[in-house]
Amino acid sequence: MRKVTPDTISEVFMGYFSPETDPRLRAIMEGLTRHMHAFVRETGLTHDEWRKALELLGWAGRITTPERNEFVLLSDVLGISSLVDMINSSPGATSSSVLGPFHISGAPPLENGGDMKRDFEGDVVLVQGQVRDDRGAAVAGATVDIWQTAPNGLYSSQDPAQDIHSFHGVITTGADGRYAFTTVRPVSYTVPTDGPVGQLLNAAGRHPWRPSHLHFIVKAKGCRSLVTEVFPDDDPYLDQDTVFGVREDLVMRYVRQPAGSFPGGMALSGKVHGDFDRVDFDLILARSDPA
Ligand code: BEZ
Ligand code: FE
Repeated sequence: MRKVTPDTISEVFMGYFSPETDPRLRAIMEGLTRHMHAFVRETGLTHDEWRKALELLGWAGRITTPERNEFVLLSDVLGISSLVDMINSSPGATSSSVLGPFHISGAPPLENGGDMKRDFEGDVVLVQGQVRDDRGAAVAGATVDIWQTAPNGLYSSQDPAQDIHSFHGVITTGADGRYAFTTVRPVSYTVPTDGPVGQLLNAAGRHPWRPSHLHFIVKAKGCRSLVTEVFPDDDPYLDQDTVFGVREDLVMRYVRQPAGSFPGGMALSGKVHGDFDRVDFDLILARSDPA
C-alpha cells in the first residue's frame, strides 16, 4: 500500500495515471495538482474555506448559460485568460486580448468607411488603420469584426432598447489593407457583479470596472486570427482593468480634428461639419503560412 501523506499525495496521484495517458494531458494534470496541493499546504486551507470555494463554483455552474458564462468571467478576473493570451501571443503581431461575452457571431457586414454611430448621442469618432502581416505587407480581404458599448455603457445584448446589431459590424479590407468606420466613444463599464464573481471581487475589495475599449476580431487567409481590443490612453481605468486586458501596444489616442477636415469616401462624408475625433490603429497579423 502506498503511504499517502501531505508530502507524497501529488506523487501518489500521478501514479494512478495509465501508461497510455496522453503525455500533454498528463503534464497538465501533474502541474495542476502539484500546484493545487502546494496551495492547500501553504495556505493551511480549512474545511470551511474549501466548502465555500466549492459553493461558489456550484453557484457559477447554476447561473451559467450560453449567453453568460460565469466560469469564463472567473478566469478573466483571476488573470488566467490574460495570462493564457500573453504566453500564446505571436511575436511581431498585435497583442491579443480577452474576447469577453458580448461578441455576436454573424454580425452584419459594414461597408469600409461605414457608420456605426447612427442616431446615438456623442461626437463622431473616425477609426481607421491598416491590416498588415508580420512581414509588413498589406492584407487585402481581411475581415475586421468590430463591437463596442453604446454611450450608456451597455452592449446591444444587454440592452433591450438597442437593435441587437447596434455597434457591431464586419468590415472587409480593400487592396491596400485599410479599414475605416465612424462611431462614438465607447465607455468604461463594469463586468457583471450579481453572481459569485461579483461576490469574490467585493470580498477582495476590488472594483469591477474595465477601461473603455473597441473590440476587434481580425481574420485573413494565411494568417493567425487575432482577437483583441484597443483602449484610449486617457481612460481612468487603463492601469486597473479588472480583467487585465490592457497591453502597451493596445493603447490608442483620440486626436481632435478641426471642423471642415472630415475626409471623403466615408458614409458620413459631407455630414460632419464640426470637430471630430480620429483614432489611427494598425492591426498586425502573424502569418501562418511559410515565408
Ligand atoms: C468585455 O470586454 O466585453 C468583457 C471581457 C471580460 C469580461 C467581461 C466583459
Ligand atoms: Fe468589452
